[in-house]
Amino acid sequence: MAVNSALLVAYARAARVHAYCPYSGFPVGAALLASSGEVYCGVNCESASYGATICAERAALTAAVTAGETAFVALAVAAGEEPVPPCGVCRQVLAEFCDMDLEVIVARSCDDFEVYTLGQLLPQAFTPRSL
Ligand code: THU
Repeated sequence: MAVNSALLVAYARAARVHAYCPYSGFPVGAALLASSGEVYCGVNCESASYGATICAERAALTAAVTAGETAFVALAVAAGEEPVPPCGVCRQVLAEFCDMDLEVIVARSCDDFEVYTLGQLLPQAFTPRSL
């Protein structure tokens, strides 16, 4: 499926407005394109017990799984003017559901972003196939 990266970034940036980040003040939005063509968004949702924080990427993924999706094509992440790639925990959780050719679009703005594959971000991954 062709990915409209700029549009996916626009979804991530729109979602970011709703980030709940009173402790870090660092809002992140994510938009995940499923193989079905649907887009699922997520934001970081922090907790006073800091370790319970959920990143935007995992929020988007769980929203998608909740809707019955298990196959994905691309993920966009928007965190402001600097590109913010998914953290290590999110990379691992993405590897649970996504092939290593998942496009990960890390955005500065709608027309300024970098594209990686999940395989580039998480080489030699431990995945369900490793078990
Ligand atoms: N955060 C994300 O949502 N995604 C990332 O990939 C990096 C970090 C959030 C977690 C926390 O709410 C804030 O950014 C600062 O770490």
